[in-house]
This record gives sequence, structure tokens and C-alpha cells, in this order.
Amino acid sequence: MKIALIGYGKMGKAIEEIALQRGHEIIYRIDVESEDLLEKKSLKETDVAIEFTTPSTAFHNIMKCFDAGLPLVCGTTGWYGKIDEVKQRCFKERQSFLYASNFSIGVNIFFELNKKLAELMAKQSQYEISLEEIHHTQKKDAPSGTAITLAEEILKEIPRKKKWVNEGSTNPEDLGIISRRIDPAPGTHIIRYTSDVDDIEIRHTAHSRKGFALGAITAAEWLAGKKGFFTMKDVLGL
Ligand SMILES: NC(=O)c1ccc[n+]([C@@H]2O[C@H](COP(=O)([O-])OP(=O)(O)OC[C@H]3O[C@@H](n4cnc5c(N)ncnc54)[C@H](O)[C@@H]3O)[C@@H](O)[C@H]2O)c1
Repeated sequence: MKIALIGYGKMGKAIEEIALQRGHEIIYRIDVESEDLLEKKSLKETDVAIEFTTPSTAFHNIMKCFDAGLPLVCGTTGWYGKIDEVKQRCFKERQSFLYASNFSIGVNIFFELNKKLAELMAKQSQYEISLEEIHHTQKKDAPSGTAITLAEEILKEIPRKKKWVNEGSTNPEDLGIISRRIDPAPGTHIIRYTSDVDDIEIRHTAHSRKGFALGAITAAEWLAGKKGFFTMKDVLGL
């Protein structure tokens, strides 16, 4: 595949390494200094774009790729409030778009585990629920996109929780998310169910960025020739 990397930071570089190992070609490395490459003409020369930039720039970049009709894999977090606009354009114009708040295969299995555990805990109101996420200090958004995905799945299953809040909370209707920023943590997520008599805890710890990069490349390979809005669930058949 001929790939345009949009965002050439920590993730862009990790993706490049794995893409080259898998025989793909990097046609463009688009970063802040080379944003003008985000034009129809340049994007037309590539098979797929992989976007890992910042919460404030991702939406604009997605729109540019749609304008060029270029399939896009997006991993930037913190812009999810605009997802409906992206979905709408995607379906109306038959674009190819794949988003994951976390591309790690392990995390996507962890999402399923979280859902199952929440389903089992729905009637066990003696358990208080909390979420903790730990990332490196340069991370711009809090809570992490992964923590939000985990929290929203819990809210769907557990009626006694009405909303997530980005702090510890004593309101029994809140699902508290504690965000810690510690270097060089690439990403840990913990879900705790705590009662007077016992605790249940599930945890995923990323050891490096490699898992995210491999997932993003796998997703780009899978997206070839498909039209619509997809997630890692589609890629992994979950
Ligand atoms: N989905 C996942 O699996 C996953 C995994 C890790 C990180 N992330 C997310 O991916 C994003 C990037 O993470 P990172 O660790 O690579 O960050 P980073 O800060 O190392 O890199 C971001 C890069 O984007 C560039 N950039 C900023 N504005 C741009 C623009 N308008 N056009 C092109 N490039 C631009 C910056 O110059 C920088 O090089 C963050 O939102 C992070 O939370 C997602």
C-alpha cells in the first residue's frame, strides 16, 4: 500500500517502522510544517492515510481526506464530539473511514471483557465501580479515549450509573475516572468493582506503542476496498 502518514510524532514514527517491515511504502509524512500536502492532488497519489495528530486538528484532517475521497484510518483521540458529522459524511458520500480510540488488539479484547463484566455486575449494586487510566505526561486529552470507551460501555450495562466524571466522585450515580500522568507510561487502564467483602479488578497495560502501530497498519490493510464507517471490532470480527 502507498500510505500518507498524517502526523509524524511518536505514533507516526512507530507506524512507519511497522509499515516498512510489512512491505508498504510511505509516500507522505505530513506534519505541521508540511500541512499543505493535505491537498486533494497529493492525497490522490496514495491508497490510504493514517492520521495520528492532535485533538484540535484531527477533524479538519478527516474532512480533507474525505474531500480527496481517500480511505482513512484515524487514531487521534479527544475529538469524538464530532463523530456524528464524520459518520454522516462517511455514509452519504460512501467514504472509507476507520476509527479506534485504541488500536491495540489486547485492548479491543479488554473492551469485550469490560462489557461482559459490566453485564454480570448490573444487578450487584453492592459493588462500587471506578476506572483509572495512566499515560505519559505529554498526552493532551484526559480522560483517555480508551477510558471513555470503557466508561460508556459500563454506563450502557449498569443503570445505577448515569454519567462518567473525570475525577473520583462520591455521588453513587457517577462513574469516576481517575486520570494519572506519569512518564514514560504508554497506557494502562484499570476497572475496579469494590465491595465490603471483596474486589474485582481488570487491567490492561501496554508495554510500548508497537501494539497500537501494528493495529493501525492491520486496520489499514483490512480497510482496502471497503466503504463505510468501521472500528477495530470489524477488523477483529468481535
Ligand atoms: N488510537 C490509538 O491506539 C492511539 C495510540 C496512541 C496515541 N493515540 C493518540 O494519537 C494522537 C497522537 O499521538 P502521538 O503520541 O503520536 O502524539 P505526538 O505529539 O507525538 O504526535 C502528534 C504529531 O502531530 C503533528 N501535528 C499537529 N498538528 C498537525 C496537523 N494539523 N497536521 C499534521 N500533523 C500535525 C505534531 O507536529 C506531532 O508531530 C493523540 O491524540 C493520542 O492520544 C491513539
